[in-house]
Amino acid sequence: MKILVTGGAGFIGGNFAHMMVRKYPEDQIVVLDALTYAGNLETLEPIMNEPNFRFVKGDIRDRAFIDTLFENEKFDVVVNFAAESHVDRSIENPEIFLETNIMGVQVLMDACRKYSVKRYHQVSTDEVYGDLPLDRPDLLFHEDTPLQTSSPYSASKAAADLLVHAYHRTYGLPVTISRCSNNYGPYHFPEKLIPLVISRALADESIPVYGEGANVRDWLYVTDHCSAIDLIIRKGKVGEVYNIGGHNEKSNLEVVKTILKALGKSEDLITYVKDRPGHDLRYAMDPTKIETELGWEPEFRFEEGIQETIKWYLANKDWWEHIVSGEYQEYYNRMYLNR
Ligand code: NAD
Ligand code: TYD
Repeated sequence: MKILVTGGAGFIGGNFAHMMVRKYPEDQIVVLDALTYAGNLETLEPIMNEPNFRFVKGDIRDRAFIDTLFENEKFDVVVNFAAESHVDRSIENPEIFLETNIMGVQVLMDACRKYSVKRYHQVSTDEVYGDLPLDRPDLLFHEDTPLQTSSPYSASKAAADLLVHAYHRTYGLPVTISRCSNNYGPYHFPEKLIPLVISRALADESIPVYGEGANVRDWLYVTDHCSAIDLIIRKGKVGEVYNIGGHNEKSNLEVVKTILKALGKSEDLITYVKDRPGHDLRYAMDPTKIETELGWEPEFRFEEGIQETIKWYLANKDWWEHIVSGEYQEYYNRMYLNR
């Protein structure tokens, strides 16, 4: 199989590319990424020279470029991770979220139709379901929970999900959609909560906690998300949505305190700051469908996954220090343009 992984220089797409290149030496894995501020070629360094891997720089919004790429490459499967992914940035500037997360998806699906791609997989998020109350632990998101979004980011992802569904109904495009809870693990960009706390705590800098830190997220170790997507593209039913999550609900304050304790840092670093506008209270997934229909099981509980993650950030300081210093943005030029 030839698999296109869009957004593969980002956090989850990068982990997915690593897994696929190593697990399926007989498959060809092509990563396409525009290398926005969130894309980092250093994430792909460990697989860059593998014979079944190739990196292409390009933008999913660029219709002419995507058309030529699909015509030349004849992909069997497309897995779309490419997106603007940070809620706080979507509040500052929604426009790019609509352009990439909705229009980019349309460009990709048009190319899939034209070149008869056998599967288009859309990587979506639990945030399309809105939020749940903090005092009702019995409530979970199911695949048929109505879409009800809070941020421009989640609205753009929900719009894309609807478009994917429409391309299936109208044109018969063979699609699947996965909606996963919050991920954490290696190669996570340090603007997101967990890597931000680790990097700032190591530098003895204050840890900004929004509001009272009571908001709850359902954390899944990134490789467990990747194994679920791999199962869906191989065994999932066309036209279906699959929720992915591992019942690891934690408040933000619990997450921050766990990391500070593991690093031997004082809780005095915690600084309560103004809350995020429209801040979702709680996310919690019901993954019964993917567990029972496809036999997926997560490998990591939060308690182990967070220790693995901290170990990785301690062992790979160069990777995130280059991001914090901005040096990673020079990497592409050094590696490619000046060669
Ligand atoms: P990320 O921001 O780390 O990576 C996104 C990647 O997409 C970057 O490499 C970026 O350069 C690339 N990109 C952005 N715009 C592009 C464009 N126009 N053309 C080509 N490439 C472009 O994001 P992530 O956390 O790895 O998330 C990946 C996907 O998973 C997203 O679709 C996100 O909505 C979804 N998701 C994320 C989480 C999470 O917790 N991070 C949870 C569920 C779903
Ligand atoms: P984030 O990692 O941005 O993911 P998402 O908003 O997609 O869930 O944030 C996770 C939670 O942590 C969310 O409730 C917002 C909160 N948060 C903070 O309290 N401080 C921070 O500096 C950041 C980035 C997030």
